[in-house]
Amino acid sequence: MLRLRGITKRFGSLTANDSISIEAVPGRIHCLLGENGAGKSTLMNILFGLLEPDEGEILLGDKALTLTNPKQAMAAGIGMVHQHFMLIPVFTVAENMVLGHEPGRAGMLDLASARALVRDLSARYKLDVDPDALVEDLPVGIQQRVEILKALAHDATYLIFDEPTAVLTPQEIDELMAVMRTLRDEGRAIIFITHKLREVREVADDITVIRRGKVVGQAAPETSEAELASMMVGRAVDLKVHKAPAQPGDDRLVVEDLVVASPTGAIAVDHLSLTVRGGEIVCIAGVQGNGQTELAEALLGTMRPLSGRVTLDGVDITHSKPVDTIKAGLGYVPEDRHRHGFVGEFSIAHNLVLNNLDEYSKFGALDLKKIRDNAQARIKEFDIRHGGSHDQEVRSLSGGNQQKVVLARELSRPLSLLIASQPTRGVDVGAIEFLHGRIVEERDRGTAVLIVSTELEEVESLADRIAVMYRGRIVGIVPPDTPRDVLGLMMAGVAYDEAVATTKGAPA
Ligand SMILES: Nc1ncnc2c1ncn2[C@@H]1O[C@H](COP(=O)(O)OP(=O)(O)O)[C@@H](O)[C@H]1O
Ligand SMILES: [Mg+2]
Repeated sequence: MLRLRGITKRFGSLTANDSISIEAVPGRIHCLLGENGAGKSTLMNILFGLLEPDEGEILLGDKALTLTNPKQAMAAGIGMVHQHFMLIPVFTVAENMVLGHEPGRAGMLDLASARALVRDLSARYKLDVDPDALVEDLPVGIQQRVEILKALAHDATYLIFDEPTAVLTPQEIDELMAVMRTLRDEGRAIIFITHKLREVREVADDITVIRRGKVVGQAAPETSEAELASMMVGRAVDLKVHKAPAQPGDDRLVVEDLVVASPTGAIAVDHLSLTVRGGEIVCIAGVQGNGQTELAEALLGTMRPLSGRVTLDGVDITHSKPVDTIKAGLGYVPEDRHRHGFVGEFSIAHNLVLNNLDEYSKFGALDLKKIRDNAQARIKEFDIRHGGSHDQEVRSLSGGNQQKVVLARELSRPLSLLIASQPTRGVDVGAIEFLHGRIVEERDRGTAVLIVSTELEEVESLADRIAVMYRGRIVGIVPPDTPRDVLGLMMAGVAYDEAVATTKGAPA
């Protein structure tokens, strides 16, 4: 058994881990549950030798381990599947296995053995992966399998999964859980980090909840989602989005016959038409990669449509650049906040005014006092948790807090249209409740809201109307209480009437 005892880790004035003790027991799945920023990744990075604790010890059996780098952790039988993949995109799967394989228990790995190992492990764990595929050509779900295979290549007894499901589809999540169960039943110890309460209850043997760097308690897998959520957040949490029926006004966003090509030249948005009125939330549902990203980018102006027409409040913005669409009243929350949502090296304060520098400049220079005052107000309003100051770089914030920075910035001026892609991806329950509430408030101010989300739960709870997108087209527009199996079929391209007929005919 692997034990962490009294682990404390400080970053400056912030105590990210405060005397944490947990255990990993072979044959059990231990879920570590906590809000974003609670200190989960920090603890796991310590266990994997990526960070050194200020206090505390790690024991394997009754032997104290010194873990100053991942090599030592792997030698001790510890493997980690990271939250942000650590694969090299231009290399093949097998090449990545060789690179990830520090000479350890199994010695050096050559390419031929790596290929054989991938085939062998894939078959054993039903993790189908082509050893010769380039990583960059693989969908996210398969890239994650490669990460798992890398950890298994060391025959790790103690396996850490750090938020592995944040980027997976519901079906991929089910597959991953099955793999975790198999690994457990083989006698491995799994530490599974997630904020998705349903998953915790489904696979956990043991649950430990941490909040603000401290263990706040253990829970049984039978514990209700509401109870788990309130342990995580430290107060009662409402898992349901409360909203009055929409009071839609005039058409604000009108998309007519839009065609957009992806960077590779393929048609990503295929003669799509859609209208969003003021005061309503339209959610685009669909499996990732059906043109949602290209649609959002074309509306913002970072991609140029080939044909069609887009108007916002009657003004043609079809070929407008982002500076102009933003001026026209578009608020934009991008799908990949790391790449497009903020500048990680900039402070919180500067990130909060990036879209509005004119207003925060005086005599051609930045008005630092005004920027600071704004930061203080927004940090308070959005409860942005940081390590002590608005000067902190945004890249050092947790995912949920980074997303709050983006939303705080986008919602701090009057909008005609808010487009938010995957607004709560990788965000914990406490922050989701808050972000959803703010989006509904924006709707109730009369803004037209367009949400792109691959999370059906999010779509169902936010949408006033659901537009299902498949291969660049809208398959149908349906009400939010449409049954899930009907939505599922529509997401595979089946028209509404046919989907209803099919699911009615199916045995319950
Ligand atoms: N290298 C770092 N420097 C400064 N602060 C950090 C660093 N890494 C993490 N933190 C802070 O420590 C806290 C815990 O972060 P983390 O362990 O990533 O949380 P979780 O994985 O639970 O979301 C957060 O407030 C985060 O901003
Ligand atoms: Mg984390």
